[in-house]
Amino acid sequence: MNHFLDIHTTTAADLRAIIDQAAAMKRARNGLPKGTPDAEQPLAGRMVALIFEKPSTRTRVSFDVGVRQMGGQTMVLSGKEMQLGHGETIADTARVLSRYVDMIMIRTFEETVLQEMAEYADVPVINGLTNRTHPCQIMADILTYEEHRGPIRGRKVVWSGDGNNVCASFLHAAGQFGFDFTFTGPETLDPEPEFVALARAQGVQVEIERDPARAVEGADLVVTDTWVSMHDSQSMRERRHNQLRGYQVNEALMARAKPDALFMHCLPAHREDEVTSAVMDGPHSVIFDEAENRLHAQKAVMRWCLGV
Ligand code: CP
Ligand code: NVA
Repeated sequence: MNHFLDIHTTTAADLRAIIDQAAAMKRARNGLPKGTPDAEQPLAGRMVALIFEKPSTRTRVSFDVGVRQMGGQTMVLSGKEMQLGHGETIADTARVLSRYVDMIMIRTFEETVLQEMAEYADVPVINGLTNRTHPCQIMADILTYEEHRGPIRGRKVVWSGDGNNVCASFLHAAGQFGFDFTFTGPETLDPEPEFVALARAQGVQVEIERDPARAVEGADLVVTDTWVSMHDSQSMRERRHNQLRGYQVNEALMARAKPDALFMHCLPAHREDEVTSAVMDGPHSVIFDEAENRLHAQKAVMRWCLGV
């Protein structure tokens, strides 16, 4: 069994195999109604717990549908309603859940919760987002890029805005899948230096460029995310907006990227803040393909976790 905790802690060969399997499984379902089971049922008889300590639309629905398409069953648990939210330790929760379910997906705040869950669970644990990373999202994004434009290796990805959890997983993917990565945003919101150093050590170019117009020159893919994440205090909202206003992805910025550049956003988006509707609904945007591909990418992640 394998835990899927992060992109940089999974081997490049396994990540590639997961993406390729996701693409094949997606093709095999082409045109089927969403509720139709897959021809293969690798999760038959398996029970999966989906734990949410933060809100979710895509992660919740895509995991639930994915498990069912592969023949398994799910139970969606809110952290607040579990004893976990009332003082039971993560280690004890992990050991108890391992007696009932075959796999655990958890969306939580501190990364240490995920790590402790993985340490004490006897079943695979999947990271459904922490304050620090969001690996399932980026697996879907790699699948999406390659469906539209072919191999991502050697391409230039530009992240504009907050160097947050989604940015961190993109940076991990740069090292593992071999693409160059430019971050553009204010210095106080830079991605973690440790992650920048790790990607550089894997041989890819990582640039930090304060000027967004310069950053997007030659970009194959432009990505952004909310300016205020779920773990950020709402009181920083105004300050963040003031800091990040100049990093909005709009048509003028997209026009400086390559003519066939794609635009991605993990969603939910705040239209007219980090990105304009003209870009979200425009010709470069693949945001709804990304959302769909959460389903296909995670199905392959779950098969890899269980070895089925
Ligand atoms: N992109 C993403 O993880 O969305 P949700 O918060 O809706 O799950
Ligand atoms: N950075 C965002 C991503 C939401 C899917 C957050 O953590 O709130």
